Amino acid sequence: MYVRQSRPAGSRGPSRTPHLLEMNRTALRVCVLLLAGLGRAAGGQEHDHNDENAPHSAEKGPSDSHWSYEDPGQWAKHFPACSGTMQSPININTETTIFSPQLRPIQLSGYSLPASQMLALKNNGHTVVLKLPESLAITGGYAQQYRAVQLHLHWGSPSNPGSEHTVDHKRFAGELHVVHYNTKYENFEAAVTQPDGLAVLGVFLEVGPRENPYYQQILEHLRSIQEEDGEVFVPGFNIAGLLPDNLHLYFHYNGSLTTPPCLESVKWTVFNQTVMLSKEQMSVLVSSLQTDDNHLLMNNFRQDQSLHRRWVLASFEPSSSRDRQVPAGGSSSVTAGHTSSFHAGDVLAVLFGVLFAITMLAFLLYVYKNRSQNARLDSPTKSKVIYTAATAENTA
Ligand SMILES: *[C@@H]1O[C@H](CO)[C@@H](O)[C@H](O)[C@H]1NC(C)=O
Ligand SMILES: *[C@@H]1O[C@H](CO)[C@@H](O)[C@H](O)[C@H]1NC(C)=O
Ligand SMILES: [Zn+2]
Repeated sequence: MYVRQSRPAGSRGPSRTPHLLEMNRTALRVCVLLLAGLGRAAGGQEHDHNDENAPHSAEKGPSDSHWSYEDPGQWAKHFPACSGTMQSPININTETTIFSPQLRPIQLSGYSLPASQMLALKNNGHTVVLKLPESLAITGGYAQQYRAVQLHLHWGSPSNPGSEHTVDHKRFAGELHVVHYNTKYENFEAAVTQPDGLAVLGVFLEVGPRENPYYQQILEHLRSIQEEDGEVFVPGFNIAGLLPDNLHLYFHYNGSLTTPPCLESVKWTVFNQTVMLSKEQMSVLVSSLQTDDNHLLMNNFRQDQSLHRRWVLASFEPSSSRDRQVPAGGSSSVTAGHTSSFHAGDVLAVLFGVLFAITMLAFLLYVYKNRSQNARLDSPTKSKVIYTAATAENTA
């Protein structure tokens, strides 16, 4: 995405796409029938993945004046950016995301830390923050290089999920945010005020059957930092283990820190694959830490912010679940990706349209020729032969 230009508004129209794709599909089917071999090659366009898994993103500002999740309406009084037009989190509507083949897999380096490297883990009254050494970096997927600063979590309560981003209005149990700053700036503080200053990786947490050993490296220390400003040093581990296996599938958009000062400096990556924690682990997360007033620190997520004029890109064609709904639609894959496979769809539609026309023409000529022949010979059996031949072709 960073590499790509934003598309002109007109090029995205969902209304036009289905039409062409539908036409493409019909043409394809006919071609398959009439030109057996050729049609097959086109059917091979099936594209890839589609996991129902999902992750999502994060932020976190340095400023720590008195703000709370109780009164987000007040944030903008002290932090004007909080009422901006590029705020996070957002709801990700998968029907309107734009497939961007230019979005390369996220690549990480230095994420595997030795146990001898101790990391500060702190309850800052809003979340639990693990400080990360600058040796951790994003080296692929973004146009620029980003260095890690910290990671932290968002969660709900024992009875409610608490991710910040939502996907089609589904809120996940929790959300991990790994915060990085652009190496073209001197440090995090310099980067946080720049439009391309930060990259945050967001991962959705869900409850699953097994204990997650990577998250356990953090969770097992929460008891010792229950009070605000509590801090402990924990052994290093493979930080990448906190992220989903699949770093190819993600959403991307321009947004902000989700806490005051809400600066609009974050290029968000929200993974489509989620990560599982056990039920016990999730309950440790939601019921261990306390806020400054000694209440349990819960529901530390911000509500969805308006998208305004922003796009949300997807690194993948969100089609698999739909394809599954189309029974026996052998040729379908290209059609599923609404906005995304637009160009390919156009080209294929035209191509098959032309092929179809040529085939029809040839077929009609053939019929016409044989007919006039038959007429001349006046042989009723000949027309039967023609009919049989056509049938044979259809089943080829
Ligand atoms: C992942 O993408 C698929 C296809 O768009 C979507 O149905 C699903 O809700 C997404 N899940 C997450 C967590 O992003
Ligand atoms: C994010 O902002 C940059 C710089 O303004 C822009 O080039 C890019 O297209 C934007 N990305 C998206 C997904 O809108
Ligand atoms: Zn966050």
